[in-house]
Amino acid sequence: MNRLVVQRNIFTISLIFFIITYFCVYKNTSMLATTILSPDFLKHFNISEILDNKPTSGQKRVHIVIKDGIKIALKIISVIDERIERELKIYEVFKSNNGIPCILDVQRYGHELVISEEYIEGQDLSQVLGEYIGDSEKIRKLIFLIAEIMEPVWDGDYVHRDLKPQNIRIKDDGTPVVIDFGIARDLGDGTITPIGFQPNSWPFASPEQLFAKKELISYRTDFFCLGIIAHFLFTGKLPFGNSQLEISTCFSQEQITFDIGDEPLNLFLNIVLKYKVAERPRTVENFKNSLSI
Ligand SMILES: Nc1ncnc2c1ncn2[C@@H]1O[C@H](COP(=O)(O)OP(=O)(O)O)[C@@H](O)[C@H]1O
Ligand SMILES: [Mg+2]
Repeated sequence: MNRLVVQRNIFTISLIFFIITYFCVYKNTSMLATTILSPDFLKHFNISEILDNKPTSGQKRVHIVIKDGIKIALKIISVIDERIERELKIYEVFKSNNGIPCILDVQRYGHELVISEEYIEGQDLSQVLGEYIGDSEKIRKLIFLIAEIMEPVWDGDYVHRDLKPQNIRIKDDGTPVVIDFGIARDLGDGTITPIGFQPNSWPFASPEQLFAKKELISYRTDFFCLGIIAHFLFTGKLPFGNSQLEISTCFSQEQITFDIGDEPLNLFLNIVLKYKVAERPRTVENFKNSLSI
């Protein structure tokens, strides 16, 4: 009897150990993130302090560190593919754009790519949502500033494709900076297989993204995402539902007309939140004009 209990305990402990090992090692989670910042790594990059470890997303880990005496966002990419090269190209092409962080250094370290990015003081828009609720003018001005940052990017035939509050930094003076161009797509490069948005980005995704209609993705996809952000900021609610299924169902039905109790925002939302791409503003100028600023 006792032997049976011991055997069962050994089995349970082994199972728990196996599960923990699987999630930590194979799922590439925090255990790997802390081991990668080994003393050698810290010495190589002259990092004196780790201030924050951001949650891992896919192939990328972000650490806020002091490197060479300054605060930077250190982005470690485990798989070097064309997505990363595109992201770097965008930063290179638009490095004089104040609304996009500067890349200070890019190095290969073992099998990984380590990118040192200018740290943008302030907070993610997702952390300061409360400051925008019900403030139509503040929201329209913010969307306008984001459109100004994005205008040369859109004109250059790039699309961000993952505009959401977590990818917009708000500086202390209220001006936005757009980050995380990881899945931006160079529309001029026909050799690139377009890929989807991040799995957790569905709340801010357009119909063409949710339905994987890749050929329909354009700057007007970003227009739609900015419309969702504006609705979310004003009302505190997502415009099309709270689950991926609810949102997809909504997109397959008749076009919704918005009335959120604010005329200028109603006008903007009813112009940009069109399920059909062709019905959204044709130019950035039209998009900006629809904000009534
Ligand atoms: N340049 C930066 N300045 C300040 N914070 C940043 C910067 N880049 C990233 N972050 C922070 O790290 C988080 C994750 O970075 P991001 O580039 O968006 O990677 P992910 O692909 O994991 O979303 C951001 O939401 C933001 O809080
Ligand atoms: Mg992000």
